[in-house]
Amino acid sequence: MKAVVVENYDSIDGISIKEMPMPDIPPGGVRVRIGAAAIGFVDGLKVQGLYQTKDPLPFVPGTEFAGVVEAAAGDVATFKPGMPVVGMVRSGALAEYISVPPAALKHLPPNIAFEAGASFQANYLTGLYALDARAELRKGETLLVLGAAGGVGIAAVQLGKLMGAKVIAAASTHEKREFAKGYGADETIDYTKADWRDTLKGLTGGNGPDVIFDPVGGEVALQAFRSIAWRGRHLVVGFASGTIPALAFNLPLLKGGALLGVDLAQIQKREPETHTRLMAQLFDWLASGRLSPVVGKVVPFENFREAFKTMQSRSALGKMIVKFS
Ligand SMILES: NC(=O)c1ccc[n+]([C@@H]2O[C@H](COP(=O)([O-])OP(=O)(O)OC[C@H]3O[C@@H](n4cnc5c(N)ncnc54)[C@H](OP(=O)(O)O)[C@@H]3O)[C@@H](O)[C@H]2O)c1
Repeated sequence: MKAVVVENYDSIDGISIKEMPMPDIPPGGVRVRIGAAAIGFVDGLKVQGLYQTKDPLPFVPGTEFAGVVEAAAGDVATFKPGMPVVGMVRSGALAEYISVPPAALKHLPPNIAFEAGASFQANYLTGLYALDARAELRKGETLLVLGAAGGVGIAAVQLGKLMGAKVIAAASTHEKREFAKGYGADETIDYTKADWRDTLKGLTGGNGPDVIFDPVGGEVALQAFRSIAWRGRHLVVGFASGTIPALAFNLPLLKGGALLGVDLAQIQKREPETHTRLMAQLFDWLASGRLSPVVGKVVPFENFREAFKTMQSRSALGKMIVKFS
């Protein structure tokens, strides 16, 4: 089988597709033929050796995929050959086949394309955990989403609308703002403008947003917190800007506000009941058609580098997808 293999951290152009042995199916294991894999910001950091944890070289990148069960060990009851599935792994999804324990898989509801399935779990679970379990976003509240056209940002826009919030999408270009509007944002803001907080004030009747979903960090995050409503909740999701902001502690005091951390990697382990509840909710919305995961640019497997380069250039709309023929 073919797989993308990272052998060094020199450059994206140095990463190539190699012939690899077909992964074995250990007892209790399932082998999936991958139809589509998603590339997010974290995957971009990982292939450059810039993420907080490093996979030992060489490694096959890719953490999220959708495909079809190709074979399963005899002791696996829940997954049988031919079943469509989605999966999340630490690495290995940018390959034609992957072998995983059943716990890494979920059934993909009928009629959902692999591209949509692959882009679903990580961003939408992060978004729902943030808005529901952490911020307890209520119907009628105002939600400001920073980086709203990015992978996790656009998920928060859609989820905010599903939860009945008024959603304000902040993004750096007209194209990105229109993209967010297309997925339900009620209002948009160009947060590269010096007076964007005045615009925000106007859009929130002078109160500021009740909840801020923040995968960007940096100066924008500090400015956003200064505009938050009384008892507002600022969700710390990521630092795509490259800067971790340092907030003066007098600001939460003055705003009656809260900073709430969000870490996808810890939800299942630390809050298993919440994880089960949120996943059930997400797959219910997916199966019923109430939630359609945003599929960003789709590139063929052979052109996988384009997905990483688009991420790097800050031009991605939604989550990038690598499609297998
Ligand atoms: N906490 C968690 O569990 C969790 C889960 C998923 C993702 N994340 C984090 O969330 C962040 C976003 O991830 P993503 O996959 O949504 O990324 P993405 O698709 O690349 O979106 C990031 C957005 O951030 C904005 N941005 C601002 N400054 C940027 C810069 N210097 N470079 C790149 N983007 C910049 C961009 O929007 P504008 O151009 O409009 O500013 C971009 O659309 C990352 O830090 C990621 O690690 C965290």
